Amino acid sequence: MRYVREFKGFAGIRLESDDIGTADDPSIILLHGFGQTRKIWEDVAVGLEQAGRHVINVDLRGHGGSDWPSDARYDFDAYVEDLRAVLGQMRTRPVVVAAMHSGWIATAALAEDAATLASGLILVDPQSESGAQSVRACAEELSASVGQGLAKPDYDERLLDIFDVDGSGARLLDSAPHINIPVLVVRGALGSGHRAENSTGYADAFPNAEAINVDGGGLLVNAERTEAFNGLLIDFLERKQPRFIPEYRSGSDARTLRDAMGCFATGITIITAHDADGKPIGLTANSFTSVSLDPPLLLVCIANNAGSAETLRSAQSFAVNVLQIGQQPVSNLFAGKGEDRFAGTRWEVGEYGAPILPSSLGIFECTRNALHEAGDHFLLVGKVEKASFEPRRDPLLYFRGKYRRLHFT
Ligand SMILES: Cc1cc2nc3c(=O)[nH]c(=O)nc-3n(C[C@H](O)[C@H](O)[C@H](O)COP(=O)(O)O)c2cc1C
Repeated sequence: MRYVREFKGFAGIRLESDDIGTADDPSIILLHGFGQTRKIWEDVAVGLEQAGRHVINVDLRGHGGSDWPSDARYDFDAYVEDLRAVLGQMRTRPVVVAAMHSGWIATAALAEDAATLASGLILVDPQSESGAQSVRACAEELSASVGQGLAKPDYDERLLDIFDVDGSGARLLDSAPHINIPVLVVRGALGSGHRAENSTGYADAFPNAEAINVDGGGLLVNAERTEAFNGLLIDFLERKQPRFIPEYRSGSDARTLRDAMGCFATGITIITAHDADGKPIGLTANSFTSVSLDPPLLLVCIANNAGSAETLRSAQSFAVNVLQIGQQPVSNLFAGKGEDRFAGTRWEVGEYGAPILPSSLGIFECTRNALHEAGDHFLLVGKVEKASFEPRRDPLLYFRGKYRRLHFT
């Protein structure tokens, strides 16, 4: 789920954010650096949502969709109060993830009552109090290094001169020792690893901080860095802001068992055969497994209450059609009710008598080898008589109840 959510900031200013994920999940607030907007977190936000987190990705005042106040209140305290106001409007205590100068704002905002406002703080490429660059220099560098996706900067230029770097460093050092929640300092995540010494020195200011440097890899490999960064973030969150872990025990609800099984990522197949009248039947199944090479055997598990069950129990031949990425509609069709599955699908009769779907990634034509009863399903074991496959297509994948695609990092 995703929608644009507004918060009331300091002095009633309107702050715009993307609210991504499910409100019941542990929440995370993302704060971009100066001269950027919340777009910079887009890939990170998606990764966090997939890891079961509720993400609030906020535009700071004077940036993107949030108000650009006519009185140009862009001083340090206005930003600190904005963040405190947002935190006050949250139902739960989020982990705050703050990039660059926003790290200072977050540190100052949490100084007095960190534990009641937030459950963790992650500082991404924070400015060290000694080597602080002006916000203008920082914003310009950011736009040059990671802002390729942003055609024109979307912020109020006036803030670059008004936001006061001077004195902020000292304030940071005053605040950090009081922040008694878990803190993670990550450097190199936004391509600015070269800017400051290392995360350890910075982290030392906090009573309870870990420090990590994301390995370089050059300024332009943002995608790779996002993967590494998300990995670190999620690992920290799992440890410090643990989610409720569902548990199944024999005899408890089948839904939880299904969800547990859904952690095993699979491809998707369509199992096809002809019924006694010579009509093609088929159903979507992901319980496909290779069993033996010699003799060549495979199996699928079929629900006893499936409409196709009786035909498959008696069929002398059947086929397993492994779907490619373009066949999601076929998967839906063969798992759905009511429609004539073969009317809208290109199919032909295979060499061993079963219907086959020629645009599939792989086709295993089988003769029946064995059938084993197994609870509310039966295991249909086939002897592979012929296997053909198209090595250049990507598979359609299934994981946690959703279709997925291969993702190379
Ligand atoms: C991704 C996915 C995987 C499935 N895997 C199986 C399976 O392995 N075995 C099974 O019996 N049903 C499986 N189903 C459910 C059947 O496809 C669905 O119940 C279908 O409507 C059965 O059709 P039928 O009643 O005409 O036989 C799966 C459905 C989906 C969407």
